[in-house]
Amino acid sequence: MNEPLNDKGVIHRYRHFLPVSDSTPVISLSEGSTPLIHSPRLSEKAGAEVYLKFEGLNPTGSFKDRGMTVAISKAVEDGAKTVICASTGNTSAAAAAYAARAGIQCAVILPAGKIAIGKLAQAFVYGAKVVAIRGNFDDALRIVREFGGIDGVAIVNSINPHRIEGQKTASFEIIEDLGDAPDIHILPIGNAGNITAYWKGYREFHAAGRSTRLPKMTGFQAAGSAPIFYNQPIEKPDTIATAIRIGNPASWQGANNAVSESGGCIDIVTDEEILAAQAWLAANEGVFVEPASAASVAGLLKCHSNGRCSTCPFASPLRPGAKVVLTVTGHGLKDTETPVKFGGFTPAEADANLAAVRAVLDQS
Ligand code: F0G
Repeated sequence: MNEPLNDKGVIHRYRHFLPVSDSTPVISLSEGSTPLIHSPRLSEKAGAEVYLKFEGLNPTGSFKDRGMTVAISKAVEDGAKTVICASTGNTSAAAAAYAARAGIQCAVILPAGKIAIGKLAQAFVYGAKVVAIRGNFDDALRIVREFGGIDGVAIVNSINPHRIEGQKTASFEIIEDLGDAPDIHILPIGNAGNITAYWKGYREFHAAGRSTRLPKMTGFQAAGSAPIFYNQPIEKPDTIATAIRIGNPASWQGANNAVSESGGCIDIVTDEEILAAQAWLAANEGVFVEPASAASVAGLLKCHSNGRCSTCPFASPLRPGAKVVLTVTGHGLKDTETPVKFGGFTPAEADANLAAVRAVLDQS
């Protein structure tokens, strides 16, 4: 298939590490190649070299595009006419966009009232059929699993292994940018597909001789939605970080493997810590991420500032020059309601003249 715009996405760049062949139609929006941004103020706080892998700069504004390019390409190759997913918002945005690109139908099942407005708008604008269920993400995924086996329908949640394959490419990029794997990798955890994917990517590049070490994988769940941390499903998960409001992660085992094999840990951050980290990151580093993504930053700040957790890699001092990568998974513009609501942001008004504007500025 000759599509010039498809010469940039993750399938093109990493096809030898992905389950594609010359006959796979590449459905791409030039995802991936996101920046690894050095974070001087976080580095100072952590006593390490801290970098942000800003996945919000993917085409639909989250890391989901990496997995979706592979899942939708394979679905089209296999003859699917419709894709379906459960979602807390970002998977549905990515599925809808890539399905539109492929010219196939997309159906998304969402927990009613718990999707950030930007993500809901994306699903509609990209042309998906949207069903909001009176239940949570775990209920939505249970229903989607029941669609398995229907002819012409492909499930594109991360229970589809092609999603994990695509998402692992973020680890490849980090190794290429740093020249090696970092010492520690931190990311938020919801359905646990991403930590599973990163660990797979790190191991594959290590096995291929592209890196000399493996990072400790460290995941943070929201305190009210922390089944892995508490080692039991949560029936009514709750958090303002709606993207990770999940009580029974599909890739639970993958997360456990990543943590135990790498010597990392799973910990929790409160909603207050998440909101504070989101605001801190935007105001101090100029990077605006959605609340779930800020769980990475909240986790680093928490572990650095109290060393409370005995299994946590931060309990022991980091080696000088240690490299820490935080995945910030989604763009802040997807969910402007949450920070505006909790931050109480209202512009001060002034009459339309210089003196009045200066008076207001001097007061604030
Ligand atoms: N960050 C964001 C912004 C997300 O949207 C998600 C998951 C995660 C982190 C957690 O990643 O599930 O691989 O552990 N969002 C899914 C969705 C569940 O439907 O968009 P995970």
